[in-house]
Amino acid sequence: MVKPLFKWTGGKNRLLEKYTNLNFFPDSSEFDTYVDLFAGGGATFLWVANRYPDKKLIINDLNTELVTMYLHIRNEWDTFLPYYEKYVKEFMRGDPKERKELYDSYKPVYSFEYDKYDPIEISALLLVMMKTNFNGIWKNYIKWNNRYSTPAGTMTYKEGLFNVGNLIQFRDVLRRAEVLNLCYSDVVIPERSWVFADPPYRDSEKMYSDQFDDEDQVKLSEYILKHECLYAESNKEIGDEFWNKLYPSNNINYLDHKYTCGQGDSTKHVTEVLIKNYGNNIQKQPTLTNFFS
Ligand SMILES: C[S@@+](CC[C@H](N)C(=O)[O-])C[C@H]1O[C@@H](n2cnc3c(N)ncnc32)[C@H](O)[C@@H]1O
Repeated sequence: MVKPLFKWTGGKNRLLEKYTNLNFFPDSSEFDTYVDLFAGGGATFLWVANRYPDKKLIINDLNTELVTMYLHIRNEWDTFLPYYEKYVKEFMRGDPKERKELYDSYKPVYSFEYDKYDPIEISALLLVMMKTNFNGIWKNYIKWNNRYSTPAGTMTYKEGLFNVGNLIQFRDVLRRAEVLNLCYSDVVIPERSWVFADPPYRDSEKMYSDQFDDEDQVKLSEYILKHECLYAESNKEIGDEFWNKLYPSNNINYLDHKYTCGQGDSTKHVTEVLIKNYGNNIQKQPTLTNFFS
């Protein structure tokens, strides 16, 4: 199966089995279009593209630098690939210390001098930096012109990280999709859609380009519920009954998840919710109370 191109904080990559067990994937007869409102690194739309080769895909994210890169991979492949290969060659040279110096030397180019370059080259540079950065975190510091500026990772990677075969397969999934750079609330949902929403976690440090507070979570649930569609939403449970107030409680499933995050190279354990209005006849489905007991 096609893999995401880089780690992405909050990415669903490692949850495929748990999601499958929770009946995340509806029967193919139940929808025509899959809409990923918060696509991020794309783990979920890759599962869906693989499982339903004939369905229409709509992929959206508010992050303009990320979506521009996806569009360049999809639409400008013949120009993108030589730039990508040029940067891969550079990033494969040297020891980790030299690679880190190289990464650091490209940050000002990416953040401040980007408009002196071909935008497709800047997207290729972004992809190489995102593959080699610290823990798949997206940072866009003010002092770096509010553009991508995540610090370098360990820089001990091997050439396989830059595999062009997977990139080509990813491009082909993008070619099947409508790719949008909107706030989720501006996405037009076609009839017979299956809508997936994986917004930033509640109660998380600011990790994406835009903050998403509880008021936004409430607005998102209203937006989802006003559409007649299959829906699924993923988020974090912090034991304050928040989700039970927004959605019918028999639509809420609980699961454990571990993810690497922020400060230090630490792994965090969280309880996630997978809220959905289909496939909830799961045997021994835990409730909030018995999940924690
Ligand atoms: C948890 S991540 C999604 C992870 C994704 N499902 C994956 O597996 O890689 C949340 C995403 O929401 C995006 N985002 C934040 N606010 C948004 C908004 N108002 N509309 C659309 N996307 C938004 C962020 O840029 C980020 O990519």
